[in-house]
Amino acid sequence: LLVDASQTSGRPIPGTLFGIFFEEINHAGAGGLWAELVNNRGFEAGGPNTPSNIDPWSIIGDESSLIVSTDRSSCFERNKVALKIEVLCDGKGANICQPGGVGIYNPGFWGMNIEQGKTYKVVLYVRSSGSINITVSLVSSNGGQMLATNNIIASASDISNWKKVEILLEAKATNRNSRLQLTTSRKGVIWLDQVSTMPLDTYKGHGFRTDLVEMLAHLKPRFFRFPGGCFVEGDWLRNAFRWKETIGPWEERPGHFGDVWNYWTDDGLGYFEFLQLSEDLGALPIWVFNNGISHNDQVDTSSVLPFVQEALDSIEFARGSPNSTWGSIRAAVGHPEPFDLRYVAVGNEDCGKKNYRGNYLKFYSAIRYAYPDIQIISNCDGSSQKLDHPADFYDFHIYTSSNNLFSMAHTFDHTSRRGPKAFVSEYAVNTEEAGTGNLLAALAEAGFLIGLERNSDIVNMASYAPLFVNINDRSWNPDAIVFDSSQLYGTPSYWVQCFFTESSGATLLNATLQTDSITSLIASAITWKNSVDNKNYLRIKIVNFATDVVNLKISVDGLDPHTTRLSGSTRTVLTSDDLMDENSFVEPKKVVPTQTKLENAGMDMNIVLSQKSFTSLDLLK
Ligand code: AHR
Repeated sequence: LLVDASQTSGRPIPGTLFGIFFEEINHAGAGGLWAELVNNRGFEAGGPNTPSNIDPWSIIGDESSLIVSTDRSSCFERNKVALKIEVLCDGKGANICQPGGVGIYNPGFWGMNIEQGKTYKVVLYVRSSGSINITVSLVSSNGGQMLATNNIIASASDISNWKKVEILLEAKATNRNSRLQLTTSRKGVIWLDQVSTMPLDTYKGHGFRTDLVEMLAHLKPRFFRFPGGCFVEGDWLRNAFRWKETIGPWEERPGHFGDVWNYWTDDGLGYFEFLQLSEDLGALPIWVFNNGISHNDQVDTSSVLPFVQEALDSIEFARGSPNSTWGSIRAAVGHPEPFDLRYVAVGNEDCGKKNYRGNYLKFYSAIRYAYPDIQIISNCDGSSQKLDHPADFYDFHIYTSSNNLFSMAHTFDHTSRRGPKAFVSEYAVNTEEAGTGNLLAALAEAGFLIGLERNSDIVNMASYAPLFVNINDRSWNPDAIVFDSSQLYGTPSYWVQCFFTESSGATLLNATLQTDSITSLIASAITWKNSVDNKNYLRIKIVNFATDVVNLKISVDGLDPHTTRLSGSTRTVLTSDDLMDENSFVEPKKVVPTQTKLENAGMDMNIVLSQKSFTSLDLLK
């Protein structure tokens, strides 16, 4: 391998090259990234109908002690459903309530992770015809272990209208499979609505689950594409993601049923929160909005203007002045400064659908006129033919076999450099051979990414998909980060992305393999400045996709011969005994990169590449 690291060689890699794509799929957000512990907090999972679907809320007590129903008496206009509990038993007399009282509990998303010493904020809305004494507690899933408890006591006059109650609960013990419980032993009728429980400790205090966001931060993502995927489209337009329904006070958000991935979301993680998370990660937001097209229905181009207006309003919400109509709403929720929204995508995977081109052009001209600097991303693939419409980027998605993806490292070698830039916003090996995320898939993806890095004059952005899976709802496989309510691990595909964290904004060097016969090798080289020690580094990355060990001679032109590289040079390798090896909750670090000293760092190096491996060599330049 010949690497040219001389001063004159190289070309800049776009600062945006590697980022992440978040989709509300596999309970990635509701029951995942969003730290809300209560599932279906407004009792609205069935939509606005009554009786509504209160699942997974369950009832404590039998028919002789309480009747639980829903009605439309909530104080929130956009989500009228409230829970009504008629308590028939009492603390004394003939019909005595069971020990601990009767009421309801919510198991969260497959069990709440309650941790000793942590504080949880419970917020709920309550109304009653009489005085109340409700016990609010966090208990183990079988109700046997009390973790934290407090009481809501109010007189009839205090509670005759809806009242917001906030309680802090400090957990006295840890239980990974807990529930929130509201019980009483006082006869009467109680209405409840919008019951929330959040840990006080969230990422930057913004409501995100810290351990999951830290996994994202570790990738140093330069952009954050959201909120989907198919989630944006919906199977039917009535279930598509509509941003205006997801902003403002959480209690007033109606929530919606994502009919592609088949679950309800309260939309606590809404448009504002996505923009906030982008900012918290130091990543540029890439907002994918619905373009009037779902999987099964679509708005005719002649009627799409309300959707266009909705998109324009969303941009104003993100970056308009605090005095503008929508910018003032953003300012009112605590973010007067505009978000740095520079990219929008008009729909997802809709190219070729009857109204796509017509609708797209309406969006394009309106956005270009109002916001000339916004970069507009088309759904149509421009890698092999010219687009028949204007765009700044075209979206490219690829899910395929490992062999295919590895060979697709060369897809962009011959793509025209004159048209819009490529955004590879979804890629992964997803065939059966990938298991639930193994080394084989990851190595193919590593090869593909090296190809993208080498072609980063035309491919300006790339992100793996999907990012997250809650192990209790794996509707798409594989994924980069696997979690449940308390544990998480990165799949080998996650760890591959870590090899590219310094690539965005670095300089790509000429790196030439001197043999054409070994098609199972692919390599790239970059130089980058480490902001910690302010020194320039050289990183050479090589995927050996073959089942044989390779002895590779590497010659680097342009290295300073006087620099001592002994202490600072490292070799990082991702490999394992078996190609099918995966990580798991039991062995979260079975397939992760391992780093050792690079003893023979210099202008000429002989490197042994183990079979099926991904190697990164980091040298002081
Ligand atoms: O990443 C999973 C799905 O794959 C996305 O929702 C969609 O864009 C693609 O088909």
